[in-house]
Amino acid sequence: MSSVHVCLNNPLSPSSTLRRSFSLHIETTSLLGISNGRRTLHATACLNVEVEATDGNAVKPGIPKSKEVMETEARVLVGTYARAPVVLASGKGCKLYDVEGREYLDMSAGIAVNALGHGDEDWLKAVVEQATTLTHVSNMYYSIPQVELAKRLVASSFADRVFFSNSGTEANEAAIKFSRKFQRYTHPDAKEPATEFISFTNSFHGRTVGALALTSKEHYRSPFEPVMPGVTFLEYGNIEVTKKLIQQGRTAAVFVEPIQGEGGIYSATKEFLQFLRSACDDSGALLVFDEVQCGLGRTGYLWAHEAFGVFPDIMTLAKPLAGGLPIGAVLVTERVASAMNYGDHGSTFAGGPLVCNAALAVVDKISNPSFLASVSKKGLFLKEILKQKIGGSSHVREIRGLGLIVGIELDVPASPLVDACRNAGLLVLTAGKGNVIRLVPPLIITEQELDHAAEILYQALPVLDQHNSD
Ligand SMILES: Cc1ncc(COP(=O)(O)O)c(C=O)c1O
Repeated sequence: MSSVHVCLNNPLSPSSTLRRSFSLHIETTSLLGISNGRRTLHATACLNVEVEATDGNAVKPGIPKSKEVMETEARVLVGTYARAPVVLASGKGCKLYDVEGREYLDMSAGIAVNALGHGDEDWLKAVVEQATTLTHVSNMYYSIPQVELAKRLVASSFADRVFFSNSGTEANEAAIKFSRKFQRYTHPDAKEPATEFISFTNSFHGRTVGALALTSKEHYRSPFEPVMPGVTFLEYGNIEVTKKLIQQGRTAAVFVEPIQGEGGIYSATKEFLQFLRSACDDSGALLVFDEVQCGLGRTGYLWAHEAFGVFPDIMTLAKPLAGGLPIGAVLVTERVASAMNYGDHGSTFAGGPLVCNAALAVVDKISNPSFLASVSKKGLFLKEILKQKIGGSSHVREIRGLGLIVGIELDVPASPLVDACRNAGLLVLTAGKGNVIRLVPPLIITEQELDHAAEILYQALPVLDQHNSD
């Protein structure tokens, strides 16, 4: 019997390394069983593949405790992250477990990444099968999962072609280059083709130097200036101001999130996006929708822009696409793709067989109309239950969002509430100017779990009064 044992979601476990003991045995079904106190998932295909997932909150001997991990982290990692004091060791569904065995309900999904939760069986099967077959080939050669995934994305969107990257910022970096090249290609006789960009207040497009230049928060940009020149920031949603500044021969592209995530869960209006579409058409600029956070089912629509009936020339994707493995994608029309030549852009890792096979499992599941309908229904339920439980608080200014991207705007900083929720076993994020609680749970979450999350938020709310009276 051929078996590969993978200790899931348990990076600290010494048994997390692949143990190979192959013997060929072909099966087509998956089984869930218990062996030696460990849950064992048999995910099988060409090779018989046996996967061991850690069992919930069981504390494993030999795993360092939180304090030790945090102290080591502080010594050996560059201090770019102000992390919450939790060392996560395993996960299943919408639950996460720390190294002390405490359970958390995950309403953050790795920042809108783990759309299928933790350890989804089909995703796992796709990853393990591909890992045992072929992981990486570079883009010097063809590979089937990459071509299949591109085919699936093209078939389900406005786009004609796809370029793969490894992250959201890289997808936007590629979109910047594609926009500039498009302007050069379509205006071969222009002395200076359009090279500038429009971006908006509260936008977040990434941390590499091009995408950073499009990101509105000055605090992120200023230590690294000069970033890419030629970006104008306009008020999100303000048609009058934008009208004057999308200019022929000057604006290469307009970058916009149909629903802003990091910036505070602000949704565009249909009128605003329609206006951007026609202004770009009139001026020759490209319209780029950054759906890195709001795309792929999170709104209850496969693509967030479908909610507005407005279509871009370029759409960037990343976070949930491979269900937790690093991937990004740039979806483009034929018109944009035709400006690009061999060698214009590339990546060693991007679109590798492993991530693409994982992404195929994710796209298959999320694009199912009944899955999308369940996201819409759960989104309405979440907003309703939040309104009932916490809407009456004097600290809650607004509860907003679409589907399972929901923001709770407070009149005070949100971090004491985030900390209190975490202490009570609920993981939530902040957004905006730190006064918005951001809820982006796995899309597979149940109404019961959403109700539980709202209850914890309700129970934790008094911390805001305590904090403000300190
Ligand atoms: C809308 C948007 N674009 C781009 C990015 C950057 O993605 P990444 O962190 O994968 O580079 C993010 C990340 O939060 C995002 O929310």
